[in-house]
Amino acid sequence: MDVIKIGVVGAGQMGAGIAQVAAAAGHIVFLTDVNQEVAANAHAGVAKRLHRAVEKGKLDQTAADGVLARLRPAAALADLREAGLVIEAVAESVELKVRLFRELDAIMPPETILASNTSSISITRIAAATGRPDRVIGMHFMNPVPVMELVELIRGLQTSDATYAAVRRLAESWGKTTTTSKDYPGFMVNRLLIPFLNEACDALMSSVGTVEDIDASIRLGLNHPMGPFELADLIGLDTVLAIARVLHDELGDPRYRPSPLLVKYVEAGWLGRKTGRGFYPYDAT
Ligand code: CAA
Repeated sequence: MDVIKIGVVGAGQMGAGIAQVAAAAGHIVFLTDVNQEVAANAHAGVAKRLHRAVEKGKLDQTAADGVLARLRPAAALADLREAGLVIEAVAESVELKVRLFRELDAIMPPETILASNTSSISITRIAAATGRPDRVIGMHFMNPVPVMELVELIRGLQTSDATYAAVRRLAESWGKTTTTSKDYPGFMVNRLLIPFLNEACDALMSSVGTVEDIDASIRLGLNHPMGPFELADLIGLDTVLAIARVLHDELGDPRYRPSPLLVKYVEAGWLGRKTGRGFYPYDAT
């Protein structure tokens, strides 16, 4: 597969990051979102990050201009037709993803590979909604995408060796390191991470320690770059809860039950950095 053009569907923090990384690797990237304002913000966000990198002397202006020129806003899915690979990065909802993959399957040429950045939903199920299940794969990027080295690849039951090999080669050509997971709930990263974040919420609910003390214990005691509440705020508490629910529903074990405190925060709309409040307050910028 010679993928020159990449499509990205969903321009939130993950989609924007994926688009930036692909454009930085020299691909023309079509970035689309149902919400035009989100798409415009994504473009502005990438421009801001590139500008900062230029100011820090980590990137020259010509390279930054090149990345931005390759990043093309697309108004509709039909504008992605030239892409050899489409990466979906929409919200963590199985209904939404299945609907979107059906649409992409109808629009995109049959040889196009369709990848999902889902952090927990069954690739096998998403693939089965298309007429090309062998060309569907999970490409799970980590947040913040431009900084984090890992891409977890998930093979659905139907994913072909050729699709897996092509996507792995591509991700590695973008400077990422890949690992390969079987298609079970949460894959590898979130099977381990989400119970950890959820347990931190339960520990807080039981007043074992304060938000600050639990975070400091993990940062300083385990040498993690962020404590669990800082990390949950970065990921988005709605996303953490959605993944926790997938683990609980699909593994069927009560030990994965979402923390009532996490549920309450999501009900309050305190979703973390993106809403200006999660376990910590943030500037609205
Ligand atoms: N987008 C792009 N670049 C970013 C960024 C963002 N959102 N946030 C920070 N950066 C860059 C900065 O520009 C800086 O780059 P340079 O070194 O080139 O100047 C670099 O990252 C370090 O940033 P800072 O100095 O501002 O901050 P820091 O040293 O505290 O690092 C961090 C910030 C990289 C986020 C670090 O705290 C970290 O690694 N945290 C853990 C993140 C993590 O665990 N991510 C995985 C989440 S799980 C997931 O994503 C899977 C899922 O499905 C839920």
